[in-house]
Amino acid sequence: MIWCGLLCGIFGCICGGAVPVLIDGLRRLEYRGYDSVGFAVISGGRVLVVKDKGNIDEFLSKIDIDSVESEIGIGHTRWATHGAPCKENAHPHLDCTGSIAVVHNGVLENFLDLRSGLQARGHRFASNTDSEVIAHLIEEGVMSGMCLKDALAAASRKIRGSMAVAAISSAEPDRIVCFRRESPLVVGMGPGGVYCASDILAMVKYATEAYHVPEGSLATLTRVGLSFEGPGGDRIDPPSLKISLEPGAVERGGYKHFMLKEIHEQPIAVSNTLRIYREYIDRAALLLHGKRVLLTGSGTSYHACLCASYLMSSLGVDAMAVISSELQEYLKGQPLSGSAVVAVSQSGETADTLGAIRHAKRLGARVIGITNTLSSSITNISDAYLCTQGGPEIGVAATKSFLTQLVVLEMLSFRTALAAGSISKQECEEAYEEMGALPAKIGGIIQRLESVREIALKYSDRRDAFFLGRGINVATALEGALKLKEISYIHAEGYPAGESKHGPISLVEPGFLCVFVSPMDSTRQRIIGNIMEMKARGAEIFSVLTEGDSELIEVSDGYFEVPESPEYLYPVLCTVPLQALAYYVAIYKGLDPDRPRNLAKSVTVL
Ligand code: AGP
Repeated sequence: MIWCGLLCGIFGCICGGAVPVLIDGLRRLEYRGYDSVGFAVISGGRVLVVKDKGNIDEFLSKIDIDSVESEIGIGHTRWATHGAPCKENAHPHLDCTGSIAVVHNGVLENFLDLRSGLQARGHRFASNTDSEVIAHLIEEGVMSGMCLKDALAAASRKIRGSMAVAAISSAEPDRIVCFRRESPLVVGMGPGGVYCASDILAMVKYATEAYHVPEGSLATLTRVGLSFEGPGGDRIDPPSLKISLEPGAVERGGYKHFMLKEIHEQPIAVSNTLRIYREYIDRAALLLHGKRVLLTGSGTSYHACLCASYLMSSLGVDAMAVISSELQEYLKGQPLSGSAVVAVSQSGETADTLGAIRHAKRLGARVIGITNTLSSSITNISDAYLCTQGGPEIGVAATKSFLTQLVVLEMLSFRTALAAGSISKQECEEAYEEMGALPAKIGGIIQRLESVREIALKYSDRRDAFFLGRGINVATALEGALKLKEISYIHAEGYPAGESKHGPISLVEPGFLCVFVSPMDSTRQRIIGNIMEMKARGAEIFSVLTEGDSELIEVSDGYFEVPESPEYLYPVLCTVPLQALAYYVAIYKGLDPDRPRNLAKSVTVL
């Protein structure tokens, strides 16, 4: 069974006391994958590898890190997509001589051919991973007289596929050499040393400045500092990013879980996002002007696209949402010169969305990327991009990234409609004013989330649930269902309330949980009919409704009130109690909402 190097976290450092720093850095990457862990250091002139399956706490319980003295090392946390993880397939991987160690994040497409060629030339493999191929290719380069950097460069030219790699060698004990193709890789430096990682979050405690390694480029880290080599072998100087994230920014900040912290960060995240300069929004709006707009994303980001498609269409913009993994099938070879694509992604690294963008560009579309991660792959390949200002989102379940995506899309929708002349400047200003009230309204909702906690206790034993909405709140219902299913493992299904009679209602029996997103908007009268249909079959009704809606309160078994708002802003407000519902149900079920089984924060494999 061959296991591919996948969605993982890599971290490396050259600093005093490298091992505890490696462990600390890997711990901050655990959200990227946590079914095996390992590190390699140079100690006593030799490469020493310590690795095992399991998460970091399980890994540390088996070793004595104080016994390993070193000032240089690389580490890895792994998330396997198929095949059980095991010690042999954990990274780092060694070459035949045991003097070269590599860690890798990505998927190598031609590793089978490379592996059989290497085996034919006498190389012995200790694992079934694709990543180990890299160590042996570097070994061949070094054996032919190359230095570690050139040997890694030569190896990368033979390999097809995505790779973020860090490598060390006992023959060059003063340096870490890295290479990046598609998979994200950041290097940084601070007063105590130099660092490399899949994500800037791993180094915020140590580095004061960081660099995203450019596509197809090498980075060499030594005590002296950092140097970069472009795809053509030329020396390059990428822009530096000042690390403004305080280490506390990635700590839980007193909350039990990142997810709860990030739910509570939503007022400031939305407030910061509303500060995006209007000319940036207008520049993006001009790209959409007069074109058919295809909005694409995966999971929660798709729900944001669906929401925006309702709003844009209601404002006279020709817009539709297509799930990223389906866009290529949906479009086939249809020319897109008259279309624009809005690609939405928190991580900016989702392979499905990257694939959708590349396909749309091949068909002639212009692309706007909306991500939460500056210099991410999606940001880099888009013709224009808007960055949500949500700050790092560690919990696997998207929360603040969703609300900030909605806000950016709402600003973009109104500016696009204004550019098209389908709304007046005054209507646009009024919408911006309503959006400006969101942080306070979200803050008010968050202060009342304790009431959701009590309701969650009652629902934590359910096996199934429907989440229903109409109009723009179909997207809210889908998002609420996704939150509940992905962290509490309850089979929650979201769909348009008007669809109930076309099949789903056959599942409803006494006590069946139906969550309705039913604020006081243009769909309210029709959705109350759906509620009554479910009640007639004994369903338990939980409604997210507008403050003071006594009629709906009367017919609901449980409810949560949100402040009155324009129709297009209810998805922002109604999502918050649904996030909390999912969080508290997961807690009552004794689950870890930050690291749900089988899921990763960013799915960088197809
Ligand atoms: C949402 O809670 C999930 N974590 C997942 O559906 C996620 O939204 C999806 O994988 C897309 O990720 P992206 O926004 O980083 O592209």
